[in-house]
Amino acid sequence: MTAETDRTASAEGSAAPASVASGEIKAPAVDAPPETQEVAWRHEHLLDVDGLTRGELELVMRTTDAMREVLSRPIPKVPALRGTNVTILFYEASTRTRVSFEVAAKNLSCDVVNIAASSSSVSKGESLVDTVRTIEALGAHMLVMRHPASGAPYLAAEVFGGSVLNGGDGWHGHPSQALLDLYTLRTTIPGGSLDGKKVVILGDSLHSRVARSNIWTLTAMGADLWICGPSTLLRGFEGWAARGAAGRRFTVTSDMGAALKDADVVMALRIQKERMSSGLLPSLREYAARYGLTQERLRAAKPDVIIMHPGPMNEGVEIAADVAVDPRSVITAQVTNGVAVRMAMLYLLAGIRRRGGKA
Ligand code: CP
Repeated sequence: MTAETDRTASAEGSAAPASVASGEIKAPAVDAPPETQEVAWRHEHLLDVDGLTRGELELVMRTTDAMREVLSRPIPKVPALRGTNVTILFYEASTRTRVSFEVAAKNLSCDVVNIAASSSSVSKGESLVDTVRTIEALGAHMLVMRHPASGAPYLAAEVFGGSVLNGGDGWHGHPSQALLDLYTLRTTIPGGSLDGKKVVILGDSLHSRVARSNIWTLTAMGADLWICGPSTLLRGFEGWAARGAAGRRFTVTSDMGAALKDADVVMALRIQKERMSSGLLPSLREYAARYGLTQERLRAAKPDVIIMHPGPMNEGVEIAADVAVDPRSVITAQVTNGVAVRMAMLYLLAGIRRRGGKA
């Protein structure tokens, strides 16, 4: 999906502000309100990462560094977004994304309201559009939402007067997850560069919004990206390279041996039973036997391979329990970094809102 309905995201690749395009990227002083900072951020929403330039990704990474410094303080809180009302509206279950957005918003001194769709008027048949209009009428400036329908946050962004942050929509996108994955890699890989690094996404890519967002960020940063899994769970990905990824390194394969050989990073994905239609997999047991990430299979990768998983995990299916807690695993760091990355995104987007439009 393109960012057509992101009102600030057109012609993304060609119009980066000069300070971003030239590589002079400075983190904002995040103790201060964002509208007092000179920051070359121009997006009103975070709907996906497909429209972010490499320079803009660098800005998110630098801002996340600054947020990590805040989180290292005895009191990990700044007044930067005091007076900002954030509503978190989730139509699907979540632990990591929902909680870390809430913690992130509170660390920036926002006021936060949580709405579970199951206990709201959505259960009486209220539409998404009416729900979003109601949330705005109740004073929300920023809306974090998760929805089972791909594209739902784009619709919300059309009717909501503030910023919409996509916390995961259907199979389509999970932008804050891709940004925290990128940040985790940049702070784990010696030297911090993904250029030429072999990154393997292994598992149920077909149903994975995490894979779809990560494809954009990882290839934008120069990674040699491999998508691996049973052919039934790779449908549609071959066409991606031809459609929109000229110049990016991207391989799709069912050959686990070829994918894992000399890999720098392996990210296992959950088998999404709730989205799976019949006939795609013979059984979870057979999947685990053929594609589960085990210590034995990991021996084909580089000895210092970085092991990732966005969570929640099905241990013993897509990843063995001992692999998940291996010293090379950064799964817990991914969760921790989620707070700093989401603080960075709330801060950058609030700057746009408080200035009344584009940077
Ligand atoms: N990775 C992720 O989105 O986890 P949650 O479903 O717990 O938010």
